[in-house]
Amino acid sequence: MSVLTSLPQWQKLSELAESVKGAHMRDWFAQDASRADKMQLEACGIFLDYAKNRVTDESMAALLDLARACNVEGQRDAMFGGDAINATEGRAVLHTALRNFSGNPVIVDGKDVMPEVRATLDKIEAFTASIHSGEHKGYTGKPIKHIVAIGIGGSFLGPKIMTEALKPYTADAVKVHFVANVDGCHIHDVLSSVDFEETLVVMSSKSFSTQETLQNTLTAKDWFLKSGGTQHDIAKHFVAVSSNVKAATEFGISADNIFPMWDWVGGRYSLWSAIGLPIALALGFENFKGLLEGAFEMDTHFKTAPLSQNMPVLLALLGVWYRNFFDAPSHALLPYYHYLRGLPAYVQQLDMESNGKSVTLDGEHVDYATGPIIWGSEGTNGQHSFHQLIHQGSGVIPADFMLPLNVPNQDDTHHAMLASNCFGQTQALMQGKSFEACYADLANKGLDEETRTRLATHKTMRGNKPSNTFLFDSLTPNILGALVAMYEHKVFVQGVIWNLNSFDQWGVELGKVLGNQVLEGIQGKAGKDNFDASTQQLIAKFRAANAPK
Ligand code: F6P
Repeated sequence: MSVLTSLPQWQKLSELAESVKGAHMRDWFAQDASRADKMQLEACGIFLDYAKNRVTDESMAALLDLARACNVEGQRDAMFGGDAINATEGRAVLHTALRNFSGNPVIVDGKDVMPEVRATLDKIEAFTASIHSGEHKGYTGKPIKHIVAIGIGGSFLGPKIMTEALKPYTADAVKVHFVANVDGCHIHDVLSSVDFEETLVVMSSKSFSTQETLQNTLTAKDWFLKSGGTQHDIAKHFVAVSSNVKAATEFGISADNIFPMWDWVGGRYSLWSAIGLPIALALGFENFKGLLEGAFEMDTHFKTAPLSQNMPVLLALLGVWYRNFFDAPSHALLPYYHYLRGLPAYVQQLDMESNGKSVTLDGEHVDYATGPIIWGSEGTNGQHSFHQLIHQGSGVIPADFMLPLNVPNQDDTHHAMLASNCFGQTQALMQGKSFEACYADLANKGLDEETRTRLATHKTMRGNKPSNTFLFDSLTPNILGALVAMYEHKVFVQGVIWNLNSFDQWGVELGKVLGNQVLEGIQGKAGKDNFDASTQQLIAKFRAANAPK
């Protein structure tokens, strides 16, 4: 048995889960009028109602005991303190330094990193102002009107999804286009829609070695040169964000046009760094700064709130409860706000690339479940797609519902309908509909007894399906920053409990290596013996379909 599953706190939770499984939330609400009051929390402008969870006061207390037994607070302080908690890469984990408005230093390897963090923020601010004001002009003297932001993974998801979520805050100065996939359709569609004389390419790659981003940038460069630009003009139309300044310079990006980032910021935690440059260009620097300020508020809450009043900690523990004691394989994010439709995809990388691991920090294989599958999409759309499974499927799928109480260009009817669907879904999931109620509904339908009973069985909804509901007044940059930081810290706490390194991603390396070998196979540069018969067959099919006509 692992250290974790040997803990008395773990054993206690296992016993409690068995006892809870026979209970129904319907009854808990009926027995305790204060349940909703007790199981709610407000932090950083976010209201969390977690009463529709399959927990009692006793199970919450036991979950908090587990957090203490796993030294969550100690590990939290180690992260904020700059310890090299990314043990397999020997790095600190300090995305929190990027939004550290405390005025206090953050020491990495004996050096305060805050001066360079602030200098980079200043560079982002100045560059954004030069673009928005028209001071920065293209090679034919025209101001920049289009930004082509090229990046993938954490160098794409954050910028794109934050910009989309804060659409009401978009600055009119420029239009930002995002390109990630190496599928040529993407870059082709974007480049066909812009005039390079008015276009700036922001190439974002922490490593400056990601195939997709390099290829897309090469294509953009070729496009630029074929559109009339010269090598000399590159500096006016290409900037890079990377920790690999040497590679960016060798690629042809002038040193002045390189925005630095640091190895103590993981890709999926990097939107707060210069990776967020497209956000500042799209929304204006002040709104980008608002994101950082909101995240800083959540950092402060996470650092200082008692565990029982600590939003990221409670969310992490509820996730452990379902993942490890209810065998829930996934967790759904259901934002009831069209502009926030990208959040599930963002948290997907954040959570699954962090805790999709099965070896502990001690080098042992886990004997317990770890990172869940994160999925979801905007409400109300999901109700007409996958909510059937959440309601009547065979397992437990804990879900996060979220709703701004006010939206831009608010139409009261639309917004009331959106809210009523959000709340109605969480109530339906919790209370379900009994066989008896379904049977009664089928009275006077002219059904014989057997048919009526059978149909009622199919219509029965067992309920007891857990959900959290987040409310906030409106989705401002500040609230969005706090919300994202909340999920970052939730993932961190779960990683501590599961004893994982949440900050490396070795699992993606093999695919990259083999992908390059297959590319050589497709290009006829590698022999068949490199590949299994299936892959050989696939390569042969592709080569045949793309053979020169
Ligand atoms: O998927 C692996 C990964 O390294 C992610 O962690 C990262 O966000 C993405 O690829 C892009 O990496 P880079 O910013 O170095 O191009």
